[in-house]
Amino acid sequence: MCGITGYIGYRDAYPIVINGLKRLEYRGYDSAGLMLFNNNQIALTKTKGKVLDLEGIVDQSPSGKEGKIGIGHTRWATHGVPNDVNSHPHFSQSGELVIVHNGIIENYDTLKKELTSRGYTFKSDTDTEVLINLIEEVKKQEGCKLGKAVQLALTQVIGAYAIAVFDKSKPNEIIVAKLGSPIAIGIGEGLKEFFVASDASPFIEYTKDAIYLEDEELAIIKLGKAVGVRKIYDDSIVDANIQELQLSLEQIEKGGYDHFMLKEIYEQPKAITDTYRGRMLADEGIIKMAGIDDNLGKFMRADRIIVVACGTSWHAALVGEYLFEDLSRIPVEVEYASEFRYRNPIITTNDVVIAISQSGETADTLAAIKLAKSKGAFVFGICNVVGSSIARETHAGAYTHAGPEIGVASTKAFTTQITILSLIALKLAQSKGTLSNSAFHMYLQKMQLIPKKVEKLLRIDDTVKHIASVYKEASNCLYLGRGFNFPVALEGALKLKEISYIHAEGYPAAEMKHGPIALIDENMPVFVIATNKGHYEKVVSNIQEIKSRNGKIIAIVTEGDTTVKEIADHVIEIPETEEALTPLLTTIPLQLLSYHIAVMLEKNVDQPRNLAKSVTVE
Ligand code: M6R
Repeated sequence: MCGITGYIGYRDAYPIVINGLKRLEYRGYDSAGLMLFNNNQIALTKTKGKVLDLEGIVDQSPSGKEGKIGIGHTRWATHGVPNDVNSHPHFSQSGELVIVHNGIIENYDTLKKELTSRGYTFKSDTDTEVLINLIEEVKKQEGCKLGKAVQLALTQVIGAYAIAVFDKSKPNEIIVAKLGSPIAIGIGEGLKEFFVASDASPFIEYTKDAIYLEDEELAIIKLGKAVGVRKIYDDSIVDANIQELQLSLEQIEKGGYDHFMLKEIYEQPKAITDTYRGRMLADEGIIKMAGIDDNLGKFMRADRIIVVACGTSWHAALVGEYLFEDLSRIPVEVEYASEFRYRNPIITTNDVVIAISQSGETADTLAAIKLAKSKGAFVFGICNVVGSSIARETHAGAYTHAGPEIGVASTKAFTTQITILSLIALKLAQSKGTLSNSAFHMYLQKMQLIPKKVEKLLRIDDTVKHIASVYKEASNCLYLGRGFNFPVALEGALKLKEISYIHAEGYPAAEMKHGPIALIDENMPVFVIATNKGHYEKVVSNIQEIKSRNGKIIAIVTEGDTTVKEIADHVIEIPETEEALTPLLTTIPLQLLSYHIAVMLEKNVDQPRNLAKSVTVE
């Protein structure tokens, strides 16, 4: 959940490290720090706060910007509160070694006690400072080089890590290692420079060649030499795969928008199109997806599909449940990955497990995949980040191709995940014959129209802004939906709470009378999704129940609706489509609403408090 960056080469390291940290800040932003090595001296600057605060401090002492080698860190605290001392990088006791770390060393307490008994003292409360001292101790005991010391120290560690380690006495090398947290190495032309980062975004303008370390791998990065990768436990040499990066600089910049979240909301027509491009040939009535086509038999024979995910991806999974059951008539169970992994679930070789994750790095989802694999299930991944851990860990999969999602609040990930799930459900429906040929063709035609409809919806931004201004002071909000739109209600509530810190609950509309109705009074805004085909009359009754208790209704209805318009305080119209596809539309105004409320409340939209984009710890 932290971001790591590093550079070694012929350029000034500071701009590369600091800009890299800005790009990685989505991974954590409660403190930041960097180390630069120059004239045989290490300059360390670190602070509680954001990368901009760090930059401000370094600006005060420009000598702290010099050096051709550096490592940096942006933190999401696990061990030790966010403060200057707990910020990374951390020195070893001798001051010779420096480390940045993303992950958790679970047995740090035991290791700390052992090191304390050997005379080590600790300045911070972090597990990371324990690790760097362990490396120092191993180096001393074994009389070995840094790379070996890191390797041996890591065999004593339980937990997860992506680390970069620097040794003052070896200023032409950086050691990196990975277990459970991502790390990429950028390779400069002629091996004259190298980059290290949690993802490739900090170095895309410098090189397109990158190695993504696999779990339990360690790399020695030395100027002028090919990166040497080896396995941490059995010491075998790894033939590292150098990949060509597809990412571009424009993709990771704000492109004129005030926030990444807004940019990503507006990117949805393109993102949805990119998701089905080349996979759905609407006019020919074809869906082709290599990951499904190659494993069709497994899906066709599956007793059930289990979908594992977290957060917004879990909400997309719930939409998937409705899609698979309704269109392809396959039983589905949707599981929070964090519960599934510890529940001793009953999984058989006849189960297909689908794991959904934007980042492809979520620790709980990754653990759920490993568990399902160990029980013999076939695991299919739906990820956005190409080459991510989940993409590599699953048997087969499909990328959403949404482009980088940087805003912590997921938006285009949700709609593109639903797009993929719709394609899979339709493909299986066609193969199983659970949908008539004409219905199948009709769905493909309707799906093809979705991006244009999303574009149209984005034009109602001013209406949504007005509604946001009316309800921005609310302390609680309720979101209601039924059927395909029940998960959208959950997602709408999550979006509001995570960026505006207003308490919000999503509920199936009919469940309201079993409890939450007690909350309704004139101060309670209730956002109700009331599209014309989804149990419309029943939702209208639910709206009446709220109105008769003086609740304020903001309804999302289908264009041309008259009934709800008469009762609701505000309505937002969505274009007509098939009920199964409505989540792709109903979610848009709810995303915009949360965005505008958060902006009006002057919250940090892209970096909400306590959160991070990739949750790579349990
Ligand atoms: O990268 P993933 O899709 O696996 O992430 C899962 C959740 O952490 C993520 O959706 C989170 O809930 C977002 N902040 C929601 O906006």
